[in-house]
Amino acid sequence: MNLHFTDEQSMMRKMVREFAKSEVEPFVEEMEKGVFPRAILKKMGALGLMGIPIPEAYEGAGMDFTSYIIAIHEISKVSATLGVILSVHTSVGTYPILTFGTEQQKKKFVTKLAKGEHLGAFCLTEPNSGSDASSLRTRAVKMGDHYRLNGTKVFITNGGEADTYIVFARTGSGKGSQGVSAFIVEKGTPGFIIGKDEHKMGLNGSRTVQLTFEDAKVPIENLLGEEGEGFKIAMANLDGGRIGIAAQSLGIAEAALEKATKYANERQQFGKPIASQQGIAFKLADMATTVKAAELLVYQAAFLKGNQLPCGKQAAMAKLFASKTAMDSAIEAVQIYGGNGYTKDYPVERYFRDAKICEIYEGTSEIQRIVISKYLLKEK
Ligand code: CAA
Repeated sequence: MNLHFTDEQSMMRKMVREFAKSEVEPFVEEMEKGVFPRAILKKMGALGLMGIPIPEAYEGAGMDFTSYIIAIHEISKVSATLGVILSVHTSVGTYPILTFGTEQQKKKFVTKLAKGEHLGAFCLTEPNSGSDASSLRTRAVKMGDHYRLNGTKVFITNGGEADTYIVFARTGSGKGSQGVSAFIVEKGTPGFIIGKDEHKMGLNGSRTVQLTFEDAKVPIENLLGEEGEGFKIAMANLDGGRIGIAAQSLGIAEAALEKATKYANERQQFGKPIASQQGIAFKLADMATTVKAAELLVYQAAFLKGNQLPCGKQAAMAKLFASKTAMDSAIEAVQIYGGNGYTKDYPVERYFRDAKICEIYEGTSEIQRIVISKYLLKEK
């Protein structure tokens, strides 16, 4: 694995850093008030950021997976809200159609998603099916030229804002992961109801909603892959999704480290900067070391995925470690800022709130350990 970025990847990093500084940072306060960053997403679409790893044949930027991960990493340093919107849109909102869709589906849906004209969402979780994803109950029944969907999905990132939704529903009589199918459901489909918004601890500008399907009529040509292939589609795309969330976590962790280092150098107590106290300096050293380790895991997983190599274990490791690093770094940053860190005058309390969900969504840390240990035991 090459630990240095190519010229193209370095250019992507520079471009996204500048974009985040000039276009995203001024809008962070608005997002904190719960405003969805529609205007920023439009600009990201114009710059090709909504379809970075999507081939040019489908209107994407045709760049590699690592460039896409760089974009999430850099954007999340400024706004983890925007990081998750981009990650869900691309990794689990667009990729499933790109990798499992028919040519017709790719032409119809991927092209719009890659240009940022449409936003994507992924609907797996249900009120009684979270970590145990294969226990989902939403049902799709074939009725001639369409399927009729009934059920409820919860915690849907980009829900209500998205134009296309990858929805998992039970079609066969098979139990567990057998008999699950995937569908592309368009906003505005009769019987597809956008429900209540969740009021979250963090990621305030990202929309998270409940969705209900009441005899929702989905055309048969919107079945994604084969009937019964849905669970594998979900799992295979979550591998890539978890690298995206790991990159989002890395962005938060790095922002916390940078802000805490600067503050520790400026804040004077006992007649000198608090950074000159070993208790604070050692905290910074530990934060920097784990952030670097997270970075290596994230970019290793991205490299594997981008080169079509198996990456399930490495994606889970990157997500597990980077999300813990984000949480730990945010906790330490708040501690270094002291009383100031507990106020909304400084950004570290936002990192603290945004970091927590990284240990929960796209598979909790406990689920990542299940995934990693399953691979280890198989490899024995
Ligand atoms: N790729 C392809 N296929 C896979 C796979 C992968 N990575 N992982 C599993 N499969 C296949 C298996 O091979 C198996 O197929 P066969 O039956 O043909 O052998 C089938 O899927 C079932 O696999 P398991 O027996 O391992 O399944 P399980 O029921 O034990 O569940 C689990 C495994 C890892 C716990 C899974 O349920 C899981 O990942 N749970 C967490 C759910 C999750 O991550 N939700 C995220 C929601 S999306 C989100 O959060 C987005 C957001 O808002 C940010």
